Amino acid sequence: MASVTFQSVWKRFGAATIIHDLNLQIFDGEFMVFVGPSGCGKTTTLRMLAGLETPTYGKILLDQKDVTLTPPGGRDTAMVFQSYALYPHMTVRKNLAFGPGVRGEPKADVANRVERVAQLVGLDKLLDRRPAELSGGQRQRVALARAMIRRPRLFLLDEPLSNLDAALRSHMRTEISDLQRQLGVTTVYVTHDQVEAMTMGHRIAVFDKGRILQVATPAELYRSPANKAVATFIGSPKMNVLPATAQTEGGSARFSTLGTTFKLALQAFSDALPAEVELGIRPDDLHWTKDAPSRCSQKITGTVTSIETTGSETFVLVNVAGTEINSRFPSFAPVRIGDQVDLVFDPSDLHFFDSISGVNLCSLQRELLSAAEPARSVG
Ligand SMILES: Nc1ncnc2c1ncn2[C@@H]1O[C@H](COP(=O)(O)OP(=O)(O)OP(=O)(O)O)[C@@H](O)[C@H]1O
Ligand SMILES: [Mg+2]
Repeated sequence: MASVTFQSVWKRFGAATIIHDLNLQIFDGEFMVFVGPSGCGKTTTLRMLAGLETPTYGKILLDQKDVTLTPPGGRDTAMVFQSYALYPHMTVRKNLAFGPGVRGEPKADVANRVERVAQLVGLDKLLDRRPAELSGGQRQRVALARAMIRRPRLFLLDEPLSNLDAALRSHMRTEISDLQRQLGVTTVYVTHDQVEAMTMGHRIAVFDKGRILQVATPAELYRSPANKAVATFIGSPKMNVLPATAQTEGGSARFSTLGTTFKLALQAFSDALPAEVELGIRPDDLHWTKDAPSRCSQKITGTVTSIETTGSETFVLVNVAGTEINSRFPSFAPVRIGDQVDLVFDPSDLHFFDSISGVNLCSLQRELLSAAEPARSVG
């Protein structure tokens, strides 16, 4: 087990800077998730931690010890690669037992662990097959099991579930989380699936274009995203973003969006408010007026353009003055495409972003001063 520190780490490939001044502390025993869109530098960062790439600048510490130039073998990490490679001529059993065997661990102990881990990932019936005789998802489970059989200081997992079907993926998510909790091994888990990140991580580092946008617990990321990019990346379906204007009047700020206006206490906002802002609101917080909590004081009106029902929930896309807004409706609500609907919200559920930089402008819990004008529809 180990703690990890990235200190001002940069990585360049030729002229391209892939990682920009990465600073991150991972605690001993923590399950840290790296999440972000394709190409943002997650694998590169993981490979630097494994010792497979060397930072261009900066340091990496394992338990306070500088390992920046330590080769992979000296770090005691077990990594599952995004494109994993198995030994093609060996059976699953031999693939799993190979690493511990090379390290001279007792045969009986290794054989036991192979059986246990194989059972855990559902490979116990396939131990005598060769990789060519397995499906993609089964091969991926062999790669995962090969890392789990070790007792490393660090687990480094790069999209280890990407080839599995939805049911197995969800099952393995729970298994990996449980196993990590039991073993207490510090784990870095890379994914671009935010549901995986939210359900598995103790903390999540959200990457974008080689930078970390925010490091926080799933609940903090959801409730207090640092900026619009994090806000719209975390949460499914995506947060809505409404164009708005802001005007300060004495101690209050007056916001107007899509035909509705309200005032909030100015002290809730970190800096001078720009005149153009964007308001973020999650589909869950934007209610159909016939199914809304009474605290919802603001109303916008639009036309239904699409309806998605999964059975347990219904999401309705509404066009409000040219802005497409997603809202959660009661399942099987009697609305149809083309209907006019009223949506209501409570301003205390809003997030406020600078429309240019995307920074979250709101530092405090907001207190609604008054609805400056009665809520009115835009028709
Ligand atoms: N060896 C290399 N030489 C040059 N460029 C590289 C190299 N490895 C990665 N890159 C570039 O670095 C960037 C980050 O790649 P990386 O593999 O870290 O992304 P990622 O976040 O893991 O993406 P994905 O989700 O698609 O796996 C990409 O633009 C990639 O093309
Ligand atoms: Mg990758």
